[in-house]
Amino acid sequence: MKLAVFSAKAYDKLYFNDIQYASQYEILYHDFALSSETVSLAQGCLAICVFVNDILDTPVLESLASYGVRAILLRCAGFNNVDLPAAQRLGLFVANVPSYSPEAVAEFAVALIQTLNRKTHRAYNRVREGNFSLDGLLGHTLHGKTVGVLGVGRIGLALARILNGFGCKLLAHDPWAGEEFKKYGDFVDIDALLEQSDILSLHCPLTEGTHHIINETSLARMKEGAMLVNTSRGGLIDSKALIVALKSKHLGGVALDVYEGEHSLFYSDHSADIIDDDTLMRLLTFPNVLVCGHQAFFTQEALTEITEATFRNLEDFIARRPCKNSLVVGGEVEAGGGYQPIRL
Ligand code: NAI
Repeated sequence: MKLAVFSAKAYDKLYFNDIQYASQYEILYHDFALSSETVSLAQGCLAICVFVNDILDTPVLESLASYGVRAILLRCAGFNNVDLPAAQRLGLFVANVPSYSPEAVAEFAVALIQTLNRKTHRAYNRVREGNFSLDGLLGHTLHGKTVGVLGVGRIGLALARILNGFGCKLLAHDPWAGEEFKKYGDFVDIDALLEQSDILSLHCPLTEGTHHIINETSLARMKEGAMLVNTSRGGLIDSKALIVALKSKHLGGVALDVYEGEHSLFYSDHSADIIDDDTLMRLLTFPNVLVCGHQAFFTQEALTEITEATFRNLEDFIARRPCKNSLVVGGEVEAGGGYQPIRL
């Protein structure tokens, strides 16, 4: 059975090749993303494996289905890049890896907060040049600060656990969350979250309802000098409104691991290119903005779990077993027919 892996980097291959039962599949690695230009490379494959910036819109899904692809394996939690209703209509199986290491992402959010707050990135460069001046490195003590968490699912809760240990006051807004967050702080409405947080960290998924949830109006509601942290999805923030809020000095700092225009840039080396994304380039000029290339998930433990869960999802699909990570199970399975194992 052929499996095409898109957006495959050297580290993906390393972890995939380490999985014992992966050898029974013929794996075709493509280091570029899946899109309407590259989808033809999925011909002859029963399954494809994709990541956060691969495009799985209706035309791409229709092409995949016409080539005989039956399963789409997301090696990530977010699935905002997949047109799920179209996949359902086309009878495709789609599964993600919903929880590989929420702590990895939450710990990275803390790393961003503390880097931006205590300016260790600037200190690192300065000291290497023999400059031991502290001017410009003044930060805030995190203990006692109010941290707002938008979305207290797995990652938001992990962040709350960590920051509770820092002695922060925690607030959250999440209309669908369980009770667990109440161990660490209080639920408030979104306006109170924006108005009271010294640091606001985004951990809700990107959906139609959350697209640009941080916009001109919500930014204006945020506390003067507050810090905004986004390790979820770039589309949660209206980047142009963010620039306005930074220029007016209303925001104290912004840390982004994700960016709404990341699709054409992240996960590749563009150091010798002229980058024509003026919004990103403007963001990078602010001394109080820190941008990383969508790496919050990137730990050895998370990659191990992502790889194992991806192959468990594939095995479930092949065996026609119920898959706990399936988002769409495909027409056949859903109709109760075709539970015969697929021949490799
Ligand atoms: P989760 O599904 O466990 O939690 C998401 C929470 O957001 C849920 O409790 C849900 O009720 C809440 N939510 C949904 N809409 C909301 C709204 N309008 N306002 C407030 N809360 C809302 O997801 P998990 O595992 O915590 O991941 C969160 C997001 O983090 C993912 O959707 C993904 O996009 C992103 N992510 C980023 C990574 C990175 O490397 N930067 C790695 C993994 C995930």
